Amino acid sequence: MAFIYGRNDIPVKPVKNSQIAVLILAAGSGTRMESELPKVLHPICGRPMLFHVLRVALALKPASIGVVIGHQVEIVKKSAQEMFKECSISKPPQFIIQKKLLGSGNAVLESLPFLKKFKSVVVLCADTPLLTYESLYSLIQNHQAHNNLATLLSAKVSNPKGYGRVIRSPLGEVLKIVEETLATPKEAAINEINSGSYIFEVNALVEGLKEIGAKGEKKEHFLTDILEILRSKGGRIGVHLTPNSEEALGVNTRVQLAAAERIMNRRILERLMLSGVTVKDPASVHVDCDVDIARDVIIEPFVMIAGKSKIGKKTRIGAFSKLSNVEIGAECEIEMSRLDSCRLMDRSEIGPFSHIRPGSVIGPKVRIGNFSEVKASRIGTGSKVSHLSYIGDAEIGDNVNVGAGTITCNFDGKKKNQTVIETGAFVGSNVNLVAPVKVGRQALIAAGSTITEDVPAKAKAFARARQVNKV
Ligand code: UD1
Ligand code: CA
Repeated sequence: MAFIYGRNDIPVKPVKNSQIAVLILAAGSGTRMESELPKVLHPICGRPMLFHVLRVALALKPASIGVVIGHQVEIVKKSAQEMFKECSISKPPQFIIQKKLLGSGNAVLESLPFLKKFKSVVVLCADTPLLTYESLYSLIQNHQAHNNLATLLSAKVSNPKGYGRVIRSPLGEVLKIVEETLATPKEAAINEINSGSYIFEVNALVEGLKEIGAKGEKKEHFLTDILEILRSKGGRIGVHLTPNSEEALGVNTRVQLAAAERIMNRRILERLMLSGVTVKDPASVHVDCDVDIARDVIIEPFVMIAGKSKIGKKTRIGAFSKLSNVEIGAECEIEMSRLDSCRLMDRSEIGPFSHIRPGSVIGPKVRIGNFSEVKASRIGTGSKVSHLSYIGDAEIGDNVNVGAGTITCNFDGKKKNQTVIETGAFVGSNVNLVAPVKVGRQALIAAGSTITEDVPAKAKAFARARQVNKV
């Protein structure tokens, strides 16, 4: 089976009809998020909501994808273009600018010049990030099998508050969608909701959209009204009820954002566990969607793995560790530590309480021990920085021992300077290495020294006051 974008939860079974376009509605102002960031760019498991919807749209292999934007146009457009590039899609989406945010019906109306080139269109909301390929695929199949003019994806939920309700006839045919603000108490009690995903025949859309009137307090044009309009003209409309109701979750508030994050995280962890990763306490572990973890990795409670990260087989990530954008090799041990934008090679050990900062390349078989910080440094095979050190802008060779409390003094007040410690050197405890400085191969530095000049290979350097014992 083929997979997209390095993720193995979306099998690609392309829908055959190359006459289908996908339209993603992303123009809404997202008022209820109370945010400066456009709603559709709020991240869920490390990627913007819009990205998740774009990705599922791409999996359908449509003839084209249109994105309707209208609020903070430039920011949303730039992000969407980057998302496409990252998915290795050379053909950018078609952006449709909705001039006035007059509702979802108006958003589709503004898109008609783009849509007229296609026979059918799948309309998705950019704020439903949990949609699955399987459901959209079934929606399209159902629509085509029944020759419908419009088919809607619905879900049965325990709490329908805030969603449009699906009104059916006693025979089960869908009659219309009623928005919550306009629903009678009886309609509001219905728990089958509109997910905001539909497929339309474009001709029917053109006809129906003309008749949608402004409604509600904000005088908006509801796309949902089109079902009743098409039906009144004798057109077939259908509904596909998803068995997986959580995918219909629409994110309008930060409360729903958190709910979506939790569900997506659970999906990611389940996928990882089924592929051979032990997650000791899924309720306290958080893993982003671009994280790749090999078999027999053990993740202890209260761990977060964020960004684009990769973890090699049999590595153990100990409790209370946070890793972001890391590449970790096989059989590493990480204990209560923070690792950010760095690379750790096979069989290395970090922590407890260490901070590995961006640009560091460590290992293999290195030990960075208790309470140590490493920044933008390379540490070679078998070297040890076991206790209470700061290593910044350093190049450390193989089998170097860095004693407890050693500090690279890399900052002279203006710029950062490099420390080089060559292979086999031994740095005693509590040494200050005032950079720029170089310690040669197999040199030895006495404990407590402050080294300001280069140390030749195999030399023994003492840079401390001689002890005087007075009685
Ligand atoms: C909408 C549906 C509702 C459904 C719910 C599912 C309508 C009228 N209602 O309600 O039946 O249950 O989604 O989550 O469609 N948008 C634009 N331009 C606009 C207004 C909105 O592009 O002028 C976009 C938004 O960015 C969003 C989508 O349309 O992606 C839906 O808008 P939103 O305001 O979130 O609608 P809901 O109230 O959630
Ligand atoms: Ca919404």
